[in-house]
Formats: sequence, structure tokens, C-alpha cells
Amino acid sequence: MGRTLVSAEDIGARLEEMGAAISRDYAGKDLLMVGILKGAFVVMADLARHVTIPVEFDFMAVSSYGASTKSSGVVRILKDLDEEIEGRHVLIVEDIIDTGLTLQYLIRNLRVRNPASLELAALLIKDGVERPPLDIAYEGFHIGPEFVVGYGLDFEGKYRNLPHVAVVDEV
Ligand code: IMP
Ligand code: MG
Repeated sequence: MGRTLVSAEDIGARLEEMGAAISRDYAGKDLLMVGILKGAFVVMADLARHVTIPVEFDFMAVSSYGASTKSSGVVRILKDLDEEIEGRHVLIVEDIIDTGLTLQYLIRNLRVRNPASLELAALLIKDGVERPPLDIAYEGFHIGPEFVVGYGLDFEGKYRNLPHVAVVDEV
């Protein structure tokens, strides 16, 4: 499926660095990593195994593009957190930041629950896309504004299980 943009080896090496930084920054703190389903499940699983401090996990599911490859800007919570986050250190884990609309909504939604801190980790950031300002504490790779699949990212529900990130040229 498509041309490899980020190899499995490069992803692994970067996640190891990100995990080390997270372990350092949150040492002695009560960390809750929040994965945004479905896309972030692969990043979450692999990043988490490079985190060496005690950490808890939770997930949210939000509506995404559906079958289209363009952001609708409409965000709907399909599954909310199981945990209360008041007073906790929350790290949102995302697969990719495109328009940033999903995250802008999520950050606003989580901030009013009064976490002790709220930070963001994303494997991929699309450059050349206009988006609201987002402070990304842990970032993997900057890529062009192309539609990509693999490592959790789908096209029409498929290709999430590719071990690398590939560009889909034919959509
Ligand atoms: P945003 O709200 O435009 O930043 O997009 C957020 C969500 O859209 C991501 O969490 C992905 O699920 C999905 N998405 C954005 N770009 C891509 C892509 O290139 N391939 C697959 N899914 C994408
Ligand atoms: Mg998606």
C-alpha cells in the first residue's frame, strides 16, 4: 500500500526517545496517558513500553473523517474517559495532527475538568496545514500535507496494522 514515508525502525527509535523524555518529565508524578481511538492504539502501545515510570491509561473515542479524507471539523465524543482527571497529570496521545480541530476540541473539553496538567504527544504532525496554535510537548515526525496510512492510521478502516507509515498516492 503506497510508498513508505516513515520506516518501522525510525518510528521505533523516535518513540524510544519520546518515552525517555516522558519518563524524565513526569518522574514522581501521577501520569495518565490518554489515547485517542482508534488511530492512537498502536502509538500508545509502543510508546508506553518506553515509559519507565508508573503510569495509568485511559482512552477516548471521537468521530473522525468517516470514509472521506478531509476533516469535517465536527467532533463527537463516542467514548469518554473512564477516569476522573481532576488534579491528575494528563498526557494526550495522538497518531497524527492534521487540521488540529479534533485536538482543539478535546483540549478544551478536558481542560474544564481541571487536570493538574494537560500535555500532548503526537507521532505525526502535518506541515503546510493551517491550524489553530497547538503546543505539542512530544512530537515524532513532521510530514507533508499528504494522506498517510499505517501505524494506526486508516483509509476506510484499513491499513492500521502496517508497521510503517505510507503515503496513499491513489486517493
Ligand atoms: P484533525 O482533526 O484534522 O487534526 O485530524 C484528526 C484525525 O484525523 C486524526 O486523529 C486521524 O484519525 C485522522 N487523520 C488526519 N490525517 C490523516 C491521514 O493522513 N491519514 C489517516 N487519518 C488521518
Ligand atoms: Mg481516523
